[in-house]
Amino acid sequence: MNKFVLVTGGAGYIGSHTVVALQQKGYTPIIADDFRNANEVVLKGLTQILGATPILHRIDVCDAAALNQLFEQYNFEGVIHFAAYKAVGESVEKPLAYYQNNLVGLINVLSMLEKHDVRNFVFSSSCTVYGEPKGEKEVSESTPKQAPESPYGFTKWMGEQIITDFHKSSAKSKLMNLRYFNPVGAHASALIGEYPIGKPNNLLPFVTQTAIGKHAHLTVFGDDYPTRDGSCIRDYIHVTDLAEAHVAALEFLAKAENGLLEAVNIGTGTGSSVLEIVAAFEKVTGKALPHQIGPRRAGDVVEIYANASKGQELLGWKARLTIEDAIRDAWAWENYLAASAQQ
Ligand code: UD1
Repeated sequence: MNKFVLVTGGAGYIGSHTVVALQQKGYTPIIADDFRNANEVVLKGLTQILGATPILHRIDVCDAAALNQLFEQYNFEGVIHFAAYKAVGESVEKPLAYYQNNLVGLINVLSMLEKHDVRNFVFSSSCTVYGEPKGEKEVSESTPKQAPESPYGFTKWMGEQIITDFHKSSAKSKLMNLRYFNPVGAHASALIGEYPIGKPNNLLPFVTQTAIGKHAHLTVFGDDYPTRDGSCIRDYIHVTDLAEAHVAALEFLAKAENGLLEAVNIGTGTGSSVLEIVAAFEKVTGKALPHQIGPRRAGDVVEIYANASKGQELLGWKARLTIEDAIRDAWAWENYLAASAQQ
């Protein structure tokens, strides 16, 4: 019997890798994506990896009627909800669009769980809910949440609050907030990866685009922070590991007899500085990466990395891949994109 899993935003960066991980574990992923922030290149790559066109419904999760139809069509084992806007800077420019899309989408999906008695739900949350950690830079799930820096961050923070209140009203629901640290890398085949629209804001896509010649240099946003080399520190997690964490979360929820709500950090447990990423890129690819030190970027957290022990204890999941793996795969994907553009 098919085990259908709804993956909203399943044509996006993390969503597409999760679709692959689900199929590998014998699930039938059903993608709901309106392609406003996804690309046909990824769909083509996904089709090649899966060996068949994925089941795709081009719908907007803010369209409650369309979503309802989907829940009538399939008997979902669970839902993994990615569909949301994710650019921090853009969220400052367009806060209403972020609150509207990210929160209405979430509310619609939760309403469908209730209406159609689907119990298992995984939410795409972020370490942004911890804000700038006070004192200890390694954060665990019990580290108090703090106000994030951006409307984007608040949509994740508020999303978790909505889920908490939903759980109180729906004791049978089994809900998990996965708090991602910094997703990087691409599928080992280099057929899917992150497809930044416009100039990327995130570090690794900017690094690979610079190395391929799209930008003259990378600007390192600040080298005067109180860290080991003065640049900011993050916990970079390979997207394939991250995708597998979703499947582990779903399996955990499916097995649980009673309702529950948990938050789990998805990181490696190790931080890397921006300058360490530059050095690692040069080492892995053998290419010099032009870079300059620039001013600090407003709103940047200085240093944060995951205490990743709960993921292992609760889900039996831990990161397998290294930052070098992620750099190698992101670089292969950048080269694949360049080759596809020339065809
Ligand atoms: C940000 C968000 C996070 C979101 C994530 C993914 C915050 C505090 N965090 O993470 O919630 O989930 O994006 O979209 O808003 N850097 C450079 N030069 C560049 C680009 C980045 O030096 O050209 C540095 C940044 O200053 C930072 C590090 O690289 O220290 C990582 O930046 P980025 O990839 O944008 O991720 P975060 O800011 O950690």
